[in-house]
Amino acid sequence: MSQKNYSRIIGTGRYLPEKIVTNVDLEKKVDTSDAWIRERTGIEQRHIAADDQTTCDLAEQASLKALEMAEIEASEIDLIIVATTTPDKTFPSTACLLQQRLAIHGCPAFDIQAVCSGFVYALSVADQFIKTGMAKCVLVVGSETLSRITNWSDRNTCVLFGDGAGAVLLQASEEAGILSTHIHADGQYEDLLHVPSGVSKLPKTDSIEERTMAMRGNEVFKMAVNTLSRIAKETLDANGLQKEDIDWLVPHQANLRIINGTAKKLKLSPEQAVVTVHKHANTSSASVPMALDEAIRDGRIQRGHMLLLEAFGGGFTWGSALIRY
Ligand code: COA
Repeated sequence: MSQKNYSRIIGTGRYLPEKIVTNVDLEKKVDTSDAWIRERTGIEQRHIAADDQTTCDLAEQASLKALEMAEIEASEIDLIIVATTTPDKTFPSTACLLQQRLAIHGCPAFDIQAVCSGFVYALSVADQFIKTGMAKCVLVVGSETLSRITNWSDRNTCVLFGDGAGAVLLQASEEAGILSTHIHADGQYEDLLHVPSGVSKLPKTDSIEERTMAMRGNEVFKMAVNTLSRIAKETLDANGLQKEDIDWLVPHQANLRIINGTAKKLKLSPEQAVVTVHKHANTSSASVPMALDEAIRDGRIQRGHMLLLEAFGGGFTWGSALIRY
């Protein structure tokens, strides 16, 4: 009997909230300029969730599109993993809330928190479930309302982030599939990128800085560039492949300079890196599945292509996935 051990992508979807905030809009709020933001980050605009729109709302829309592409019923899903740093509630998990929205009951559902690497972490966990036969059809979502943990009067951070969701449906298959995933963390860099307070660590004061993202951008930048090229090598080596074997780099969308730097180290042309950061800024765990969805839907990524997904984020966390689409 043949083994169905590969996780194959059968559907993808993305959703961006309606409201767009351009760089020019931000010029009116903080001491910045459209030119500075474009030059340093490549970002032109970001989408911001409406006041009554939550991470689960965005996740639901992205998931429905993935289900539509896969042409399967939600009832076929036997595991839901949501990667998010901005859950609707402390509990239940956003994955449980999403399960209820999809009107399915009983399958396991849980969240993963690995900030910008969250989707790659979730994909890795989903792949282990499929490889071991524990799951046959997994919904993996990255969804964020980062606008809720952004200090809109801090120019160092507010120009960089946005809201959105991306979803991927994986099915057990004899055909590859995810070839390997690689995930890492190093907690010693906590202070370079973090929100100082949370559920258990109470804010010491009422100041907005206690509840929003703080970042030492320059240091994060250097770590990201070095770490991402290291993990690309680790991934290729693990599969006995060369740089030339990659058709598409589907990177975390934080900064165009980081993406271009990584593509160059991989000897890929700039066109081989899927870039969406200009349209929606850094959406943390949502950025990789959104970029993947865009390039699949516009026909760039074709069946049989080799994809390298990679991400770096708070923690620090980082990870990659090599996929034969
Ligand atoms: N508008 C205008 N000027 C700004 C600014 C803004 N929005 N934000 C910072 N500056 C200023 C700084 O205050 C600094 O001024 P100074 O020289 O007078 O002190 C100057 O721009 C340069 O700052 P620097 O930090 O050296 O710029 P940079 O080239 O490193 O770009 C980032 C800054 C944040 C864009 C860049 O470091 C970056 O993208 N880092 C990674 C962030 C990231 O991806 N985080 C998430 C990881 S998942």
